[in-house]
Formats: sequence, C-alpha cells, structure tokens
Amino acid sequence: MKNKLDNYIIKGGKKLFGEVYVQTSKNASLPIISASLLTTDKVRIKDCPDILDVKNMILMLQKLGVKINNDDKDIIIDSSNLNNVNLDCKLTKTMRSSIFLLGSLLHRFGTIMINTPGGCKIGARPIDIHVDAFKKLGVKVVCMGDCLFFDASKARAGKIHLKLPSVGATENIVQFACLLKGETQIFNAAKEPEVVDLCNFLSLMGAKIFGAGTNKITIYGVDRLHGVEYSPIGDRIVAGTLMVAVALTGGKLALKNVNAHQNEKLIDILRRMGCQINIKHGIIKISNSNRLSSIDVSTGYYPDFPTDLQSMLLVMMCLADGESRLRENVFENRFLIKDELIKMGAKIQQIDNRNVLVEGQPELTGCTVRAKDLRGGASLVLAGLVAQGETRVADIHYIDRGYDHLENVLSSLGADIKRK
Ligand code: EPZ
Repeated sequence: MKNKLDNYIIKGGKKLFGEVYVQTSKNASLPIISASLLTTDKVRIKDCPDILDVKNMILMLQKLGVKINNDDKDIIIDSSNLNNVNLDCKLTKTMRSSIFLLGSLLHRFGTIMINTPGGCKIGARPIDIHVDAFKKLGVKVVCMGDCLFFDASKARAGKIHLKLPSVGATENIVQFACLLKGETQIFNAAKEPEVVDLCNFLSLMGAKIFGAGTNKITIYGVDRLHGVEYSPIGDRIVAGTLMVAVALTGGKLALKNVNAHQNEKLIDILRRMGCQINIKHGIIKISNSNRLSSIDVSTGYYPDFPTDLQSMLLVMMCLADGESRLRENVFENRFLIKDELIKMGAKIQQIDNRNVLVEGQPELTGCTVRAKDLRGGASLVLAGLVAQGETRVADIHYIDRGYDHLENVLSSLGADIKRK
C-alpha cells in the first residue's frame, strides 16, 4: 500500500538481469483519458499504468460526474453524465496534466474556470502558449486572480503558431479542434510520440487529423466522435530509466513493449558511453560491463534527447571516466537533484540554470536523499542502485506519479530495494 511518507531503502552494488514488459506511457495515457471526454460513448483504455497522475486524473473526472470503472488494468470511461465544471482546485494544483483537460472540457461545456496548474517544480511551468492558442481560435480568456475563465461560445477554426513546440498545448488544441467546424492548423507543433499516439486515438474515434509527428498538424472538425478501445504506447521514459539502470549497475536487460526508434538518442548516447545494445523483433537488449565514458549532451524537443531523461544521464556522468557537460534546453531549472547527488559524493558544478559540468568519480556513497520531482526522484533510485552501501530516498510520492511499482520492477531484476 502506498503512503505519502514512504521511502525507498536501497542496498547498492547488485547487477541487474532479466526482462521487463514496460508499462503503458503516462504521457500518452493522460491526454488520451482527457480526449475520451469528446464522446458520450464508452471508451476502453487498455493496460493503464497504476500511477498517481492517472489516479488523480480519474478522481478529478469522477468528481465531474464521469463514470470510470476498472476492468483489471483497463479503464472504461463513460462521460455521458459529465456535469459540473469546477475542476478540483486542490487536485489541479498538484498536477500539471490537469491542463490537458482544458481542450476536451471546454468543448463539452463551452466555458470553464481552471486554476493555473501546479505540477513538478521544474521551472515556471507557465500556460501562456495554451492561452494564446485558444485565443487564436476565438476563445475568450479572462484572468481572475490565480484562476482563468475560458469562454468558447464564439470559437472558430483557425491558424496557430506555437512560440515553442509545447506538448501540452499541441495536445490541448488537437483535442479542442477535432469538433470545431472548419480547418485548424497548428504550426511549430510538438512531434513527441505521445502527441502522435493521441492523434491516432482521436482518428480511431473518427477525427480527421493530418501531420501528427511533424511540426504542422491540420485538423478538420467533424460533427461527432464515437467510442473506441485503445492501447496507448509503452512508456519510453520508463524504458530509458531501466536502460540507464543497467548501464550503471552492469548486467543484462531485455525490454518489451517499447519502440526503439522513440529512444534513438538515448541508445546512441549509451553506446557512445560504452554499453552494448541490440534491437531485434521489437525487443531492446542492453548490457554493460565497462566503466562509462564521459560525454557532452544537450536536451531538446523531440526527436532530440528528451529532457525527461536528463537527470538519469546526469547520474551516469557522475560515474563516467572524465569530464562531461550537460545542457538543459527545455526547462529552465531541471537540476534539482544536483545537491542530492553531491551528498553522495558527485562532483557537479552548475554553470548557470541550463548548464552543468560534471567530473566523473569512481563511486558514489549511499546516504539519505530526497526526491524533488518525478524524474529526479527516479534518478536518485538509480544512483542508490550503484552507490556503495545503503541509500534512503525520501519523498518517493513524486516517483509514484509516473512509475508503476518501480521497486517491484527493479527487485525482479535483482536489485535490493524496499519500500518502507
Ligand atoms: C510534457 O509537459 C510532459 N508531461 C513532460 O513530462 C515533458 O517534460 C514535457 O512535455 C516536454 O517534453 C506530460 O506529457 C504530462 P511543454 P508539458 O509544454 O506539456 C514551456 C514527466 O516527467 N511552456 O512541452 O507541460 C515550458 O515551460 C513530465 O513525465 C511555456 O513557456 O511541457 C517548457 O520550458 C515532466 N508556456 C517548454 O515550454 C506554455 O504555455 C516545454 O513545455 C507551455 C509550455
């Protein structure tokens, strides 16, 4: 049973061996759950990950009158009774992905009041790109304190140029435009696989969407969408996390339910740092028995190296042979685990809020560290797997937001990790 005050206790030094069927993607499941509200037919989403962000979104929707039942790991969504519109402010404060409900709920109700969502403290996490995009479609947006009021009564199809290829903004507008009469075009659209998965889901429901996965997406509004059954893609960030775990501890791992093409940049980096990786029949096999080599990497928008794997790479750099440089181009403050890794003996110098210089050390030493965000927390677990002695990772509720029983997955591969 998960408790907010849980810790992970990890005894480092165990190599990992085995096979993992990677969980369904958090960042595909969340916008797809939201998009299920665009029909009053029943929608079945298969093999949903058992993670806090999905649980909280389900809770939020149930408070709005949406019927959501579980059938093993599938969820069946029936939004025919969707009624009130006040998104639970306590919940939207804790989770960025509540902003993804905007596109679908605004279609259903015509007007909506939301507060500016919280999410992980990795930079300001503004929503100006979302707001500007809705305004370009004729939606009236009024700021009332830390709430925003949206009125779509005069909405019409149009052209939108995103100032940054925002994943959430692209997903919100795609959802909203599916049932908006006319042709809507999104320029500088996000190209992430999760955006493509959302568009595939919506197309199965009867939407007319072209260009998903490119920087220009065109949506022709239709009158209605119908119910479907859908299996979202595997989680490429969880897959990447497990690949880095083996790169750090040594051992051999086979990953299923992943698309290697979606982790191309990480696979290239791992090979350059000394790992052996081969891909056959959709299975990624990774092994490592060497000390990792140093490397210089910058994160970027897909298909560049993903910001969500940046803190895992930082841990590898801390143990690599030589000096590495890491530049974070997507978020302006995503080195929250730097001080925690320094406590374990890492040598990290922060140049500015987007660049760090790392002098690789022969080892890290276990101690008590605290998760401060989802992916940073997972990276501290990886550091604990390879550190000398025992590591206690506190505040692991951040990790529970996106990893489906991470301790069980790692234990099945031979790690000594307990939830306490
Ligand atoms: C999605 O967040 C993911 N979350 C994030 O994963 C991921 O890191 C991010 O995309 C980038 O790939 C989900 O899909 C639920 P963005 P999102 O809008 O949509 C700036 C994880 O660990 N921006 O693409 O919120 C923003 O500050 C999470 O699973 C604005 O300036 O990210 C950032 O610098 C963390 N104004 C950049 O754009 C806006 O209105 C990219 O953000 C929106 C974003």
